[in-house]
Amino acid sequence: MKDILDCSLLAHNTFGIDARCRRFLEFETVDEARQVAGILAQSDMPFIIVGEGSNLLLTRDYEGIVVHSAICDKAMVMADACAESADDVFVSYGSGVTWDDVVAESVSNGWHGAENLSLIPGEVGASAVQNIGAYGAEAKDLIFDVEAVEIATGNVVRMFNADCQYAYRQSRFKHEWKNKYLITHVTYRFSRTFTPDLDYGNIRHSLEAKGIVTPTAEELRHTIIEIRQAKLPDPKVMGNAGSFFMNPVIGRDVYERLAAQYEGMPHYVVDNEHIKIPAGWMIEQCGWKGRSLGRAGVHDRQALVLVNRGGATGSEVVTLYEQIIKDVKAKFGIEIHPEVNVI
Ligand code: EPU
Repeated sequence: MKDILDCSLLAHNTFGIDARCRRFLEFETVDEARQVAGILAQSDMPFIIVGEGSNLLLTRDYEGIVVHSAICDKAMVMADACAESADDVFVSYGSGVTWDDVVAESVSNGWHGAENLSLIPGEVGASAVQNIGAYGAEAKDLIFDVEAVEIATGNVVRMFNADCQYAYRQSRFKHEWKNKYLITHVTYRFSRTFTPDLDYGNIRHSLEAKGIVTPTAEELRHTIIEIRQAKLPDPKVMGNAGSFFMNPVIGRDVYERLAAQYEGMPHYVVDNEHIKIPAGWMIEQCGWKGRSLGRAGVHDRQALVLVNRGGATGSEVVTLYEQIIKDVKAKFGIEIHPEVNVI
């Protein structure tokens, strides 16, 4: 177990903000997670649980404990125990495994379903908290169950997918279960049959440009990676936390009023009454794409992504995102909210 006092968080946030915390605890096994739970339960310091820090904006030094999982094991789960069909493959990963390593491994082993989630930053534990999603796929479609240590008792518990109340970028871990559990493993259910989903955005078009009509899983993964790399900045080169805002879900009546005003406004139907509008499009319409405020800026190829242009402080990013929220509200009457955790 790692237990470091007055620890720099520079290596633990992809925004590249140089903040510190009072204590940093990292567990590598379920037993160590139970020890960490004991420390947290007895301490009167606040704490936050972080993954790779790819969804985190640090605006100050954190006067508390930062907890990270480094459980990096993997196990095939006995098919007999839970398989609904011979087609299913159940694999359990430690919460500290890099998410894209899960996707890469699943694709090369012929376990399908995660291809469209290629290259999403973050770790396995966060996939279950955040319900990461892209190109029409979401982690909730793969998650079978989540193993965690209950902080108050140190007990190891298991939650099934249906217990976790998954929705767009939401789960019970972000609300009533926040800071109640340390996630230790997540079991994903893959399929041995490859059923590519090419309908979102320009996936089909990008494949066809390469002369591919019916892609293999590898080809689909590589195309998704190319699309993401063309639009999203590499945090090692320019600090960022991926999508900074969530895409707002609005009522159909509001959508219809706006659609009459903005011809061709992009949107996704959520259900009969709700429509999701890409925040990146609204931010671009407000003239923010590519602009900066101090050392923080809006990425020039994807306006949903805020970037650290070099040495930005957390407060510079806050000034920028608050101004963007105001401008979007003034132009569209819609309130957008950060997807990143602002500490
Ligand atoms: N758009 C603009 N200008 C921009 C950005 C987007 O007009 O600067 C328009 C696009 O033209 C498109 C629409 O908005 O019509 C949606 O854009 P895009 O497909 O790039 O996706 P997004 O809604 O901006 C979401 C996820 C991403 C995921 C993509 C693709 C959220 C908060 N973000 O972004 O999530 O990669 O869809 O599925 O839901 C991530 O950020 O790492 C991520 C996984």
